[in-house]
Amino acid sequence: MRDSQPKTIFLKDYQVPEFLIDHSDLHFTLAAEETTVRSRLSMRRNAESTVQDASLVLHGQDMRLQSVSVDGLALAPEAYKVDEETLTLFTVPDKFTLECVTEIKPQQNTSLEGLYRSSKMYCTQCEAEGFRKITYYLDRPDVMSLFTTTIVADKTSYPVLLSNGNNVASGENSDGSHWVTWEDPFKKPAYLFALVAGDLAFIEDSFTTCSGKDVTLRIFVEAKDLDKCDHAMQSLKRSMLWDEETFGREYDLSIFNIVAVDDFNMGAMENKSLNIFNTSCVLAKPETTTDATFQRVEAIVAHEYFHNWSGNRVTCRDWFQLSLKEGFTVYRDAEFSSEMGSRTVKRVEDVNFLRTVQFAEDGGPMAHPIRPESFMEISNFYTVTVYEKGAEIVRMIAHLLGDALFRKGSDLYFDRHDGQAVTCEDFVKAMEDASGKDLSQFRCWYSQAGTPQLHVTGEYSAEHSRYTLTVKQYYKAAQQHNQPVHIPLAMALLGEAGALRLQLQGAAPNPDTADNTELVLDVTEAEQQFVFENIPEQPVPSLLRGFSAPVQLQFAYSRDELMFLVSNDSDGFCRWDACQQLGVLALKDMIAAHQAGEDMQLDHRLITAYEHLLTDESLDKSMVALMLSLPSEAYMASIMEKADVQAIHVARMTARVEIAEQLQELLWDSYNANVLTVAYQADEQQIAARSLKNTALHYLMLLENEQVLNLCLTQYQQAQNMTDSMAALAALVNSSFEQQKQNALADFYQRWQAEALVVNQWLSVQAGCYLAGTLDRVQALMAHQAFDIKNPNKVRSVIGAFTANAVNFHQTDGSGYQFLADQIIILNTLNPQIAARLLGPLTKWKQYKNDSAALMRDALQRIMGEEKLSKDVYEVVSKSLQA
Ligand code: TRP
Ligand code: ZN
Repeated sequence: MRDSQPKTIFLKDYQVPEFLIDHSDLHFTLAAEETTVRSRLSMRRNAESTVQDASLVLHGQDMRLQSVSVDGLALAPEAYKVDEETLTLFTVPDKFTLECVTEIKPQQNTSLEGLYRSSKMYCTQCEAEGFRKITYYLDRPDVMSLFTTTIVADKTSYPVLLSNGNNVASGENSDGSHWVTWEDPFKKPAYLFALVAGDLAFIEDSFTTCSGKDVTLRIFVEAKDLDKCDHAMQSLKRSMLWDEETFGREYDLSIFNIVAVDDFNMGAMENKSLNIFNTSCVLAKPETTTDATFQRVEAIVAHEYFHNWSGNRVTCRDWFQLSLKEGFTVYRDAEFSSEMGSRTVKRVEDVNFLRTVQFAEDGGPMAHPIRPESFMEISNFYTVTVYEKGAEIVRMIAHLLGDALFRKGSDLYFDRHDGQAVTCEDFVKAMEDASGKDLSQFRCWYSQAGTPQLHVTGEYSAEHSRYTLTVKQYYKAAQQHNQPVHIPLAMALLGEAGALRLQLQGAAPNPDTADNTELVLDVTEAEQQFVFENIPEQPVPSLLRGFSAPVQLQFAYSRDELMFLVSNDSDGFCRWDACQQLGVLALKDMIAAHQAGEDMQLDHRLITAYEHLLTDESLDKSMVALMLSLPSEAYMASIMEKADVQAIHVARMTARVEIAEQLQELLWDSYNANVLTVAYQADEQQIAARSLKNTALHYLMLLENEQVLNLCLTQYQQAQNMTDSMAALAALVNSSFEQQKQNALADFYQRWQAEALVVNQWLSVQAGCYLAGTLDRVQALMAHQAFDIKNPNKVRSVIGAFTANAVNFHQTDGSGYQFLADQIIILNTLNPQIAARLLGPLTKWKQYKNDSAALMRDALQRIMGEEKLSKDVYEVVSKSLQA
């Protein structure tokens, strides 16, 4: 147990800062033993603050204060006080210059926040509250300052010295060191500060903005990675153009830098003009990178670039408003990706992720609104709820307003709040003001946790040619006292020959346009009815088209209706979903049979549906691949009352083998039809073909016959790109061809050991193997030279991949849980953020059947008993044990 409980911070306690910092002049001397930071802050009392207190409290931790002076006069020890988290000056004037000299040890900083070392370079990560590990400061996003940064370091080891803004001066010293001064002309909060020093190579390109300004673009990496930067550079240029065309946002400096680092807690960081990226989110070339990663790199480059407006020019007032920048920016990057590739595929992938991961978070002990009301450690709130559900809320606003008014709203938001630190309320208000629409009820989406349940029934009256939809909304368990929210429900009614014309009772008749077959119903009450007139036949409703709201839809479709939707719905998302729901029903039967000790039978309708998918040439191949994938084990677990992981796995595997057996000829045809002979490109068509081909390969490998083994080995040996070689390797690893598997793993490591990111894939494919014995393998991998517990990418590749591997993580003896607890206890000291993130799967203990739940709780309790728990881990463990 921790000796003291961390303080909870509440949104309702927000107060404007008592002091402001107009200029921040920072001076860094980087040296092996100790890094010296001198700061010169021009401070003044904030006229808007009503607090009349002579003292000043600055944030700061993990550093040694050498000296502090006010207006050039050194303070005597009685004039100030230092504790673990603050520096207090007992009396300060209304306007003054504060100078601090502190010493820090980046080489010992394993938390990867503040200033730290990664391989041979220095870099920073300040969001959310990392700047306070660099120097004493008012480390809160509503304190915005003009930064000037000077970096001094040894010239041979650190030829490249970077910070935000423009390089305004540089020089050399006689001791072999050199220095560079950077000046950022834009005011910013400290969380956007960045510094990099290292021996880095770069590629350079340029972009001319819409008003004709030239911007120099550079990507800095270790020299060995210079051949993996092109894709990120092209992605950056596409993002810059797209943001001008779609949101009217132009870049505002003449330089934009990206730096890739190996050790990074998250994907990337939008520091002003100096984005810092996890190498895994920026480096890409066909030989080492899978299609999925090519797409991820493009999306993350875009995301960080888009933050320049949604986050940097207009920033957050406080960390409760995090979704203001993250939800909006995820929405923006999703729109960008949709336009670079297939909109429907992107939508299906995003919704699948949201429904599996975010719905589980919203139903678990860490559930929070997209604008949380309290936290102990803000790092714990960089969640799928704040990011992905936040993006869904913005998407709903965009739909409610329509393209033109949404753009008008975003223009107003950027214009009205440029240079300010604002709130989610300011965003909604701008949308309201620009559109004239009333979003009062809609605001509940910001303040309520939980996933609304949307229960829909339909009744057809042949006599009146009338179809009535009854819609009920409610929340489950912990959130049942929530208010009804405004749910835009996009829908159509499908007849035998296509979508029917919709004429809603009580609404003005539809203008006689060609397309009045889709409507968006405004669901605003706990229960509502929608009556459609002149409906000539019993229709099948197509509901929540395009996933128009982040709700859990319940409609008791018959399996034949689902079959009908799979082949007839014109909405791609609904077609995919109908196929998933058909899979859900089939798997539920099998799970129940397995639990009752009976024979499992796969619903033949699924085979029929898959057969159609494999033979219909007109379909998008990526969609076929997605639709041929049964609902994941994680999704099945999330929708079951008390998840029985072993039964889910057995049922799903049995279904997959059955599908492979029954459809083997079509799967072979599909494989052969999608072998590409042209040079690799990460474009939509090629990605789609590879995805379908490898989906077929994975099914076929379940047959475990020689012919398929040869196909797989040939693919592995001849692959010219990482997508195909990983797909073959993964199929081998999960097969019983022991010898071939070991050979391939050894060969792969031999070939790629110098490429850290490829080795990470090699680690995760093994940690993700669903066969017995994986935990032993994981333990062996952790002792392998390729593993390093201080590197988050390695931790995610081994420990993260193992916890996502449900059958193995949830072994009935609890060994998976105990293993995870051991790792969390180690990481709690080394890297609290990563430790807290890894806890995710354990926190959902209540969702599993009783014996598993008890063992998971035991593991949590053991962690809780540790003496020096970080805030990060304490918050997650204590909340999940409480609930
Ligand atoms: N703002 C970053 C992003 O979305 C998130 C981020 C990067 C972050 N590194 C972090 C958040 C470290 C917390 C801690 O794009
Ligand atoms: Zn972001």
